[in-house]
Amino acid sequence: MKRAILAAVALAAVAGAAKAEDGYDLWLRYRPLEKAVIARDVPYASAIMAQGASPTILAAREELQRGLSGLLGKRVPLATALKSGTILIGTPKDLAIAKLALPLEKAGAEGYVIKTVGRTTVIAGNSDVGALHGAFAYLRLVQTRGMLNSLDIVSAPKIGLRMLNHWDNVDRTLERGYSGISIFNWWELPGHLDPQYKDYARANASLGLNGTVLTNPSGVSAATSLETAWIKKAAALAGVMRPYGIKVYLSVRFSAPMEVGGLKTADPLDPQVRQWWKDKADEIYTLIPDFGGFLVKANSEGQPGPQDYGRSHADGANMMAEALAPHHGIVLWRAFVYSPSPEDRVKQSYNEFKPLDGKFLPNVIVQSKNGPLDFQPREPFSPVFGGLPNTSTGMEFQITKEYLGFEIHLVYLAPLWQEVLRSDTFAKGEGSTVARVVDGSLFQRPLSSIAGASNIGTARNWSGSIFDQANWYAFGRLAWDPDLDSKTIAEEWLKQTFTADPKFVEPVTEMMLGSRETAVDYMTPLGLAHQMATSHHYGPGPWVDDAGRPDWNPVYYARADENGIGVDRTATGANAVSQYAAPVAKAFSDPKATPENLLLWFHHLPWSYAMPSGGNLWESLVHHYAHGVNKVAEMQTRWQAMKPFVDAERFQITADFLAMQKENAELWRDGSIAYFQSVSHLPLPDGVPAPAHPLSFYKSLKLPFAPGSPGRTASPFALTGK
Ligand code: GCU
Repeated sequence: MKRAILAAVALAAVAGAAKAEDGYDLWLRYRPLEKAVIARDVPYASAIMAQGASPTILAAREELQRGLSGLLGKRVPLATALKSGTILIGTPKDLAIAKLALPLEKAGAEGYVIKTVGRTTVIAGNSDVGALHGAFAYLRLVQTRGMLNSLDIVSAPKIGLRMLNHWDNVDRTLERGYSGISIFNWWELPGHLDPQYKDYARANASLGLNGTVLTNPSGVSAATSLETAWIKKAAALAGVMRPYGIKVYLSVRFSAPMEVGGLKTADPLDPQVRQWWKDKADEIYTLIPDFGGFLVKANSEGQPGPQDYGRSHADGANMMAEALAPHHGIVLWRAFVYSPSPEDRVKQSYNEFKPLDGKFLPNVIVQSKNGPLDFQPREPFSPVFGGLPNTSTGMEFQITKEYLGFEIHLVYLAPLWQEVLRSDTFAKGEGSTVARVVDGSLFQRPLSSIAGASNIGTARNWSGSIFDQANWYAFGRLAWDPDLDSKTIAEEWLKQTFTADPKFVEPVTEMMLGSRETAVDYMTPLGLAHQMATSHHYGPGPWVDDAGRPDWNPVYYARADENGIGVDRTATGANAVSQYAAPVAKAFSDPKATPENLLLWFHHLPWSYAMPSGGNLWESLVHHYAHGVNKVAEMQTRWQAMKPFVDAERFQITADFLAMQKENAELWRDGSIAYFQSVSHLPLPDGVPAPAHPLSFYKSLKLPFAPGSPGRTASPFALTGK
């Protein structure tokens, strides 16, 4: 009995501040540090002196005071005179900072210097926003238990535009969102500003993001948001974002001159249409002087575009660019162009944009998804990166996990993004990585950008699951520095979000780092893609339904039959390899030189194909599925062992979701194996258990909402397998 009580007391002590938390505070929790840590590691933080009184400097001061007061467990006062132990924040406009000769020339317009000078901690930027970024970086250091005794840090973002893309509709439904509805309450705007907007701005500024596209590029929202009443709503949001260095952008619909302007055409060469866009831009800038620009999805998935009038993407983009140029606005023209055609879908984007390279005005960025298909668990990098040397080419990642288990599956995306950013395009010889294309350095482009399709909604924890917050965090950190390592980012996030105890951080970092490969294993191993049922993209669907109709996408992308599996994209097939630089094309053309994890993306191979890693293709495929499920089971066990370190609420949601993920992974494994076995007629390799049910069972799995309905915004909760 006594021992039990002691154990309970010990457990409570370990848990420390592990009081129930709902996740709203994200990584900006600022819970008290241990006294010993404060004494040892956090000197020169006894008061805060901010130089200047701009809204941005005041925001930085407020954040420092909030953060340090929380972390140090006592109110840290503001100071008006510099004393020993003070934090000094500002820009060289202020004498106290100017005379310190800080290495600010390396900090650029938005970066910062953090330096211990005598017994003062100085946080400085060339601009107020730079200083604000420095304040957040300093708080990150304190939260992650950095040693703060002799700081000497300079940091500047490598990519110019770092933004979230909200796929939020004006009725607040979300295109591919799994965390409630849009946080932007258009109905109440501009009259009421929900306090959450400021917390949203703080979270993004803490990562150094500097832009947000408020509306969905697909559908009518992109027209509605150009109506005057809606611009005023966006202006109100811009007012909240401004002190935090975040500009607002809008998605615009190509046909808006007709829908909003009442014109008969949206032809980009029509003078009236061109004038309409100019007037619209002028109107927007009157209301939002620092408006960022337009995001456009044109001639893709049924959206209107310049091709409707026999014009090119460049004609369309340049028309808008001309309207925005006098105000220094940017056009982000999406390269995701998809219209069903007999040609291999993965070739479309490059085919349409390559001939236009060099034809875009300087304030146009062509924004491409990371892969040539559609945010799959694994794809090769899109050949648009490296293929357009005379065009500013921006990166588009998807933070919301449309193809990776929605908010339910624990999948940390930084390894996926890092894999893409580090891929070598060979566009200018070895070392021409995607990251160097995106940051503009490879082709010396004037503009550079990176965007993430947001996973934020009204869920109290913002992202639907606690671990999906890590994806928002990781996106922002990589946007600032695409060379950061996903392990470092995971550790940072865990320490700030949960605890810095290594007994928690080490095993959970490892779990996060393996989680993406695990999902690949049970969903689309060996370079398979789009095996998700077309209607919802959550569960598997690689089969022909009872009426004999294939679920088009999955069957098309696997091309599995009695003889083999995979898509021949070499010269004997779709020849998508020809879109890559010669050394890359050469490697992808040869199954022996193609990375095994992309094998079936580029090659159609017999089931008996001998795999370099051992066994034949069929055996290897089946083993990947089985391995994926085993890894999810391991994640579950590992998380259970973390219970003493985590508050009850955040522990439970994660444990519940892992249990659902395990069940889903089994359905993925069994359904996929059952289907591929039905076409290959091969026996299961030794030791692999037979799928629990006949194929018909997996085919009849349904999600509890009608595909394509607004219900797509809701969580599917689970595949209804039982
Ligand atoms: C995917 C996604 C759509 C989205 C589109 C896009 O196809 O399923 O919902 O609109 O990407 O990126 O535009």
